[in-house]
Amino acid sequence: MLLISQVGLAQGRVVTELAENWKFQKGKNDQAHQVNFNDKSWEKVTVPHDWAIYGPFDKEIDKQVVAIDQNNEKVATEKTGRTGALPYIGEAWYRNEFTLPHYKKGQKVLIVFEGAMSEPKVFVNGQKVGEWAYGYSYFYFDITDQVQEGKKNTLAVHLSNQGQSSRWYPGAGLYRKVQVIVKNQESIDQWGTFVTTPFISKDLAKVNIKTKASGNNVRLFTQIKDAQGNIVASDSSGQAFGKEFEQNIAVANPQLWSPEKPYLYTAVTRLYVGKTLKDEVTTRFGIREISYKPNVGFSLNGKVRKFKGVCLHHDLGPLGAAVNKAALRRQLRILKDMGCDAIRSSHNMPSIEQLELADEMGFMFLAESFDEWAKPKVKNGYNRFFEEYAEKDIINLVHATRNHPSIVMWSSGNEVPDQWGAEGVKRAKRLQDIFHREDPTRPVTVGMDQVKATMASGFGAIMDIPGLNYRTHLYEEAFATFPQGFILGSETASTVSSRGIYKFPVEKGIEKQYPDLQSSSYDLEYCSWSNLPEDDFVLQDDKPWVIGEFVWTGFDYLGEPTPYDDKWPSRSSYFGINDLAGLPKDRFYLYRSRWNTKEETLHILPHWNWEGREGQTTPVFVYTNYDSAELFINGKSQGIQKKHNATPQTRYRLMWLDVKYEPGTVKVVAFGKDGKPVAEREVKTAGKPYKLVLEADRKEISADGKDLSYVTVSVVDKEGNLCPTATNQLTFSVKGKGAYRAASNGDPTSLEQFHLPTMKLFSGKLVVLMQSTDQAGAMELTVKGKGLQPGQVTIQSRK
Ligand code: GAL
Repeated sequence: MLLISQVGLAQGRVVTELAENWKFQKGKNDQAHQVNFNDKSWEKVTVPHDWAIYGPFDKEIDKQVVAIDQNNEKVATEKTGRTGALPYIGEAWYRNEFTLPHYKKGQKVLIVFEGAMSEPKVFVNGQKVGEWAYGYSYFYFDITDQVQEGKKNTLAVHLSNQGQSSRWYPGAGLYRKVQVIVKNQESIDQWGTFVTTPFISKDLAKVNIKTKASGNNVRLFTQIKDAQGNIVASDSSGQAFGKEFEQNIAVANPQLWSPEKPYLYTAVTRLYVGKTLKDEVTTRFGIREISYKPNVGFSLNGKVRKFKGVCLHHDLGPLGAAVNKAALRRQLRILKDMGCDAIRSSHNMPSIEQLELADEMGFMFLAESFDEWAKPKVKNGYNRFFEEYAEKDIINLVHATRNHPSIVMWSSGNEVPDQWGAEGVKRAKRLQDIFHREDPTRPVTVGMDQVKATMASGFGAIMDIPGLNYRTHLYEEAFATFPQGFILGSETASTVSSRGIYKFPVEKGIEKQYPDLQSSSYDLEYCSWSNLPEDDFVLQDDKPWVIGEFVWTGFDYLGEPTPYDDKWPSRSSYFGINDLAGLPKDRFYLYRSRWNTKEETLHILPHWNWEGREGQTTPVFVYTNYDSAELFINGKSQGIQKKHNATPQTRYRLMWLDVKYEPGTVKVVAFGKDGKPVAEREVKTAGKPYKLVLEADRKEISADGKDLSYVTVSVVDKEGNLCPTATNQLTFSVKGKGAYRAASNGDPTSLEQFHLPTMKLFSGKLVVLMQSTDQAGAMELTVKGKGLQPGQVTIQSRK
């Protein structure tokens, strides 16, 4: 049990995170909700926890004979790895004993879950207090009648995951945090605060705060603090309208929130009865203005801009679905460096931690809700819950997250089969109306793939934001047909590649398959429904009415191993701009060359270790922000290439298609606007693997038992060149105040378990995750491989 905040006076609220001392067991059990149940032999776990990520991978787990409609399949074939081939299916129990030393009878107690995978049933002291359905929803129950003062309380949670309930790896268990809130009867409601900034000028912003509170004769006092904690404004209000107080507070010289300058204020709201403080709630918010206008597009704080976004599934690769803030922060750091400024939480509610980081680090957010409405995509998907839960789930999504300035748009669905038919139009309208009722400040989109159908039925016309998934050939027609005056690329590209793998001949291809079950990193392979990055770049650059894009996907994720859905072993995606370990694929530099407008990008592909290809055509591509460059192989010029408009690829890549391979050095020299050389890069043919080199992304982490350092392990030759084809088996050992947490090499076909201290290199690299304990000190990671000089790195953890 971890006390995360104790606010105000003894009579104020106390929020306790239940993180430690959980007992867990998989399987059915009719007794496990009972107080006196003996769970001594159960596994001891901490929450967030994902019971399925430890594997082992097994083809039989998610084997299905299906035709995937979204992929235009007509004939059913055997599919494996669709949900990651990890053991997420089945029932399980979590139990926790907690005391509430500060709790006095007469107070109110809530238990809050930010997601539980899935169909949770919650029991306190042997009594059922409630249940939910969707694994991604935030929900809470009032447990005042069940908890005991001064005594031990027993919490038991039953979870159940059905097969064919997801199109990707959903994770399993209490994978997000669980909190108990004790507060007074006179208190602010759960998610009862709504901060908006309806008027902004240079000198003044109006901060509107609506607060729902319970209790008689209560009055509110609110202070607004700037990022340094200085009080910049305050307001007291005694008048409630029903349960709701409304305050309008002026903030002078407001600092606006944007991805470039993510400035955050906090509102501290205190609730009094007479002179007695009864409750206090702190809400972080941003002052910012969004608008979406016909033929103008999207503006943030009065400036038109286009979303440079990526879609992200919720899993964190080797950590599975268990939320970890350090892992999320690292993802955002990588995306920031790429110049990305927006994220779509496809296709469900994001974690609160991810939204907090988006607020702090500066990412705009498209918060999505569902991948299905009433019509199924997978047999046991959300369609089972839609009628009963959709409204409740949307209400909770909006209430729990609406104060995050990062959220600039909601999404009520992704490629829902309800795009077909009149019922679907009504559903789209109904869901959008619920969003509007709960939050009048943000628009709603749906990621639409059945574009023709949505043009014909009116489905697309009623959306605030018409979002197109792929279908670049229909953008013009959709723009002409839909009334909104702009189009969003709600999902784009779905180009596939495997880090460091290149295939010959170099040519465009749809769902190409190779015997090694990898896809080529020449970035020319995509799917029947999708396209190459440049097809979107052209639209983004040439059509002012296209308001941006969300690329599928920022990182590889577990499950959906297209184009190898029907091949084993293949258990994770190939769509990522970065691989499952978070290592950049070549495509990272293609996006970076256009999105990161502040820093230079000059990247050469492929690697230059092609023994056996001597004399054969081996094209070289360069991804760069510069317009032209000259290529040299062993000092011999291969000519100058300049970006030009012949094809989408020649417009954004520099390509030398006729290069003949000879071992040695590939060098590129880029030219500035004045034609003078400004930058150069080299790639060399590497010799034999010689030693291991370790590089930690953070050498100092916090001693909180959760923080992570990501150590990239590379194998190099005697001269220090990366050996780009090495696949050596490595082992990991740790000494000192830290632990080996997991490893990942980004190979979508690897069946090695992430948490075991051994793994093969993939394309010469892998990543080891080191975790702190709650003791400060040094931890040393040693990585060994047969015949290689070992590598070592020391990381400090501090309190
Ligand atoms: C889209 C879908 C995504 C993913 C993607 C793969 O149609 O919305 O969830 O399946 O295709 O290309």
